[in-house]
Amino acid sequence: MAEHSESRQFNARFSSMAERLGRPGGDVWEVHSDALARQQAGDDIIVLSVGDPDFDTPEYIAEHVVARMREGRTHYSPAAGEDGLREAIAQVETSSTGRQFDADQIVVFPGATAALYAVFSCLLDAGDGVLVPEPMYIGYQGVFDAVGAEIQQVPLQAGTFDLDVDELLAAIQPNTRAVLVNTPGNPCGNLIAPSVLTRLAAECKKRDLWLVCDEVYSLITFDAPHVSMLKCTEDLSNIVVIDGLSKSHAMTGWRVGWTVGGPKITRALIDMAGAAFFGVCQFVQDGAAFALANDAAEVEQMRLAYQARRDYVVQRVKEIPRLDCFVPPAGMFVMLDGSQLANSGDAFAKILLDDIGISTIPGSGFGASASSYVRLSLTVTQQQLEQAFARMATLFGDNS
Ligand SMILES: Cc1ncc(COP(=O)(O)O)c(C=O)c1O
Repeated sequence: MAEHSESRQFNARFSSMAERLGRPGGDVWEVHSDALARQQAGDDIIVLSVGDPDFDTPEYIAEHVVARMREGRTHYSPAAGEDGLREAIAQVETSSTGRQFDADQIVVFPGATAALYAVFSCLLDAGDGVLVPEPMYIGYQGVFDAVGAEIQQVPLQAGTFDLDVDELLAAIQPNTRAVLVNTPGNPCGNLIAPSVLTRLAAECKKRDLWLVCDEVYSLITFDAPHVSMLKCTEDLSNIVVIDGLSKSHAMTGWRVGWTVGGPKITRALIDMAGAAFFGVCQFVQDGAAFALANDAAEVEQMRLAYQARRDYVVQRVKEIPRLDCFVPPAGMFVMLDGSQLANSGDAFAKILLDDIGISTIPGSGFGASASSYVRLSLTVTQQQLEQAFARMATLFGDNS
């Protein structure tokens, strides 16, 4: 008689990693999801909550990729990445730091998120601690949940969002194995000074701590140049730098990111890339190498556009009574301080959405020290920003 397997309940469990990832998180995206639902229903919503650049990949890069695809660049690729792309990245790092980098120090991943996941999978076991300054990029949470890492947060300095190395060192716990810093930062656009990076690298090395530096906004700077961790320490034995094309080159959907680090961690990352990803699409890597070699003018145009948008937002904030902001020296976002207009950033984000149809991300999602702020994204047109501030001026008043 055939067995009726449907009648028996299936009892196998998920891995502890899947359980951790499936745990309900905070409501970081609640305002954004609500905004999209209202937009879908026909409401006139200005979405200032996403971190996806509004620029498209230049036509000639798209053409190059199509040609490479037609030429048959559609096969498996080495786990570490295509030589051509690794060389192009090494060249970029060499010219931005003035120090020689070679292709064998680079590992290519399908996006910086995959690179972060690979790095922390190689560095941490479940229960190990990772020190991260907050406010921090929301996406780190998922990576640390996947790995089972304990997040140990250290607040950046109130008002300036500077990193105090002494405070960070004081927060080291017996189980701390790694430090993750992000410069230029998401959400605040803060830059970590070269002298701070140099000291941090030395202090981490002294304590046998890995130091991971996420630099995905490296090319979007306004008031001071980005200085890479790679320029701030000779000794890369405990260092991994992560960068990619998503932000600076407006190529989020291409999924191209990379690591640069010392030989030991690079070997481990190649093994991890082979086990988890087994290479990144060949024609995408060809397009990425082509972009790195050819699109400097477009990258500069985008940087200037972000700078003009940042300047516009800062000016308009000054004109609205009781509204304030942190003036970001870099990045794609402005943190609006709504503490004189609402009880919290959460409440302020709700007012902006409910009363004038503007979607932002409440700062509390990035960390306790951003809880009076909301994050406004610069990835929209000047016209959309003008509309948004016209609505704010109507609601809150205007001094101009
Ligand atoms: C600080 C930071 N790191 C990493 C990422 C992820 O980048 P990717 O699109 O390359 O996965 C983001 C995306 O928002 C980010 O803001």
